[in-house]
Amino acid sequence: MEKTFLMVKPDGVQRNLIGEIVSRFEKKGFQLVGGKLMVISRELAEEHYGEHKERPFFGELVDFITSGPVFAMVWEGENVIATARQMMGSTNPKDAAPGTIRGDFGVTVGKNIIHGSDSPESAVREIGIFFNENELVEYKKLM
Ligand code: CMP
Repeated sequence: MEKTFLMVKPDGVQRNLIGEIVSRFEKKGFQLVGGKLMVISRELAEEHYGEHKERPFFGELVDFITSGPVFAMVWEGENVIATARQMMGSTNPKDAAPGTIRGDFGVTVGKNIIHGSDSPESAVREIGIFFNENELVEYKKLM
């Protein structure tokens, strides 16, 4: 079953949106298999956002993501990577459709509430950066 890495960013945590966001993915039918509230070190932030190292906003991005607690999660389900991206909406909240997380709650591209893996390769990489295997659970199939 496919897994993805999702993270409520410091703005989402401070605005008390963890429950709202978790609820959307639960109601959709995905399963939470890992989760932790944590403050990210600069080292971890630079590794996570390594592909943006040359971008002019990289410093700002690292400053922001390390500025307060984030809620890091692993979610499991069929096509969860692409579906979670749809549920999050466009990176820039001004382009994100109403009904999506960024469309409903975000205002600026830097503070856009949530991060989600953009491909199967990113999902494996990002889950590995944030979680040890023993921090992920398996559910017994009840249905
Ligand atoms: P995320 O999905 O976490 O991945 C990279 C992040 O870079 C992105 O969300 C945005 O929050 C951030 N970002 C993209 N463009 C800009 C920008 N022009 N200025 C500041 N942050 C940006």
